[in-house]
Amino acid sequence: MADLYPILRPLLFRFPPESANVFCLSLLRCGVGRILTGGSAPDPPILNQRLWGLDFPNPIGLAAGCDKDAAAPDALLQLGFGFVETGTVTPRPQPGNPRPRLFRLDEDRAAVNRMGFNSGGLDLTVKRLARRHRAGGVVGVNLGKNRDSADAAADYREGITRAAALADYLVVNISSPNTPGLRALQGRAQLDALLRELVLARDATGMRVPLLLKIAPDLSAAEVRDIAEIVLANRIDGVIVANTTVARPGTLRSRHAGETGGLSGAPLFAASTALLAEFYRLTGGRLPLIGVGGVASAADAYAKIRAGASLVQLYTALAFEGPALIGRIKTGLVTLLRRDGFTAVRDAVGVAAHVPGASAAAG
Ligand SMILES: Cc1cc2nc3c(=O)[nH]c(=O)nc-3n(C[C@H](O)[C@H](O)[C@H](O)COP(=O)(O)O)c2cc1C
Repeated sequence: MADLYPILRPLLFRFPPESANVFCLSLLRCGVGRILTGGSAPDPPILNQRLWGLDFPNPIGLAAGCDKDAAAPDALLQLGFGFVETGTVTPRPQPGNPRPRLFRLDEDRAAVNRMGFNSGGLDLTVKRLARRHRAGGVVGVNLGKNRDSADAAADYREGITRAAALADYLVVNISSPNTPGLRALQGRAQLDALLRELVLARDATGMRVPLLLKIAPDLSAAEVRDIAEIVLANRIDGVIVANTTVARPGTLRSRHAGETGGLSGAPLFAASTALLAEFYRLTGGRLPLIGVGGVASAADAYAKIRAGASLVQLYTALAFEGPALIGRIKTGLVTLLRRDGFTAVRDAVGVAAHVPGASAAAG
């Protein structure tokens, strides 16, 4: 099937980016994705992986924020993603920040957003996920707190309790820069108490759903060390590295570079990949990591995997490249893995992260 996105993109880019996102999700809900991709073929075994007892046909997933209210997870999976993360969903519906709150930085292949957890709330997500339950494919749910909630732990607990039976994995998102005070939950004492409580809440559901943590890229070396220690001590199942950054690299050229919010896309790649490698070193490869930030090619995805990511996510590049990007990344990844002598994607995980004491792997 010919890639129609280069024709569609100039039209889409005439609209405010948030409207374009909503429009694309509506198209996907109507089945347009299947028409565009012709339904995706099974992924080659070299890309298959089993993690947390879940079968991932390939390691390329859709990051949180694109389908916040679980409107179209199955249509997104049909585009060829190995997994899809819905959310961030907050317990009660909330409107998020005033518009405009999403800016495309065309010249930088980037975006700045200050959405502020606009969410239809857990009722809506739970209803939609219940409707597609057991439809197949890996669908994770990213959980947040309401802006006006005084008890963050209670909000995350509610998310875990209500979504545990319907999600393939859950993510505690304490790393959005757009909810006041949220990132402070990454501090040592707060995080330890929070994760201890949330693991208990997960266990109380009787579900063995994996509980992941998503961290920010704007952390000091000491904070990163603390988080790695706390995550291991609390037996968190995995970590997503990383959310958007409040930093603004001096290389940015777009007129929207100075907008308040989190920066995503190409300029986030280097810093988020370095943090990923550091996190892999600190955790010694003992828990799966999901690498996200600026992935726009097979080489980018491969670099994340070599830095320590068992799985990779992307979002911003999708707006610039369209859904054919997913197939291009997968095909390119197979070539790169074979070139370096790997027969399974899992064998390439962390080979460039230099874990102290580990023997060098192929590649
Ligand atoms: C418009 C927008 C909304 C986002 N919303 C969320 C969100 O609700 N929860 C979350 O954990 N991450 C959110 N993110 C962050 C992404 O999941 C991802 O971590 C980040 O964009 C880096 O990946 P990318 O460079 O491939 O976009 C959002 C990103 C964008 C651009």
